[in-house]
Amino acid sequence: MNLRQAWTGFVTPEDYELHMASIGQAQANAVLVREAVINWAAAGARLWIAGAGTGQMFDFASAAFLSPFDVTFSDINAQFLERLEARLAQSGLTQWRTQLDDLEQTALAGPFDMAAVVLVFEHIAWRKGIASIAKVAPARCLIVIQQNPAGMTAAVTPSRVPPGTMKAVVAAKPVLVDEAELIAEMATKGYRELERTISDVPDGKKMLALVFESNRRFIDRIKMRQTEVPEE
Ligand SMILES: C[S@@+](CC[C@H](N)C(=O)[O-])C[C@H]1O[C@@H](n2cnc3c(N)ncnc32)[C@H](O)[C@@H]1O
Repeated sequence: MNLRQAWTGFVTPEDYELHMASIGQAQANAVLVREAVINWAAAGARLWIAGAGTGQMFDFASAAFLSPFDVTFSDINAQFLERLEARLAQSGLTQWRTQLDDLEQTALAGPFDMAAVVLVFEHIAWRKGIASIAKVAPARCLIVIQQNPAGMTAAVTPSRVPPGTMKAVVAAKPVLVDEAELIAEMATKGYRELERTISDVPDGKKMLALVFESNRRFIDRIKMRQTEVPEE
């Protein structure tokens, strides 16, 4: 079974969530997403959370941080989206929708002001994922990738035995994304790095959160600043 097959219809929400909470990554990523959205999205912004999963982050960060925004959640796994919808229905949020969508060739058209992709590129042809983002062209984009301690190449720590159906993901071997290659690929699509945050998680791993901004948006901001400063 390959990664796409495992994620599309095999891994259960329960096994996924057990695994992510047990390795501390669900907790760390909830904080990273909340901080990036609060820092880089203006009230009223249209957000796209791609490969959103089950919405487990709301167990660790109150969904209220999303209330100023209009949020589209997408994933390739229908069962995950059902679990997410159940959470959203209880969350008090009013402006949200979910969409079954393949990030390798998104059918979403936007427009979106900010996208967030958390631990998805390790599981897909990530350059296709970036092409999808570039097609939709959000002004800003948060990408979280996993970084391992030197010498550990497997995405899932070899000594950890993941629960039930999550074993299929381990067997299909997710591939870590090289930070420099990711930044270079984003640059080819007109995105520059704006901010980085590193969060330590168990087993000596790190979550690297990179916020990118489109050069177009950057130039607009400079122009705006120039018009705000009166000429002497
Ligand atoms: C490691 S999980 C991360 C989930 C979520 N972002 C989080 O942090 O909890 C990877 C997610 O990517 C989704 N996924 C895998 N391949 C995908 C694809 N081609 N398009 C969209 N989502 C995909 C999986 O279903 C799963 O929800």
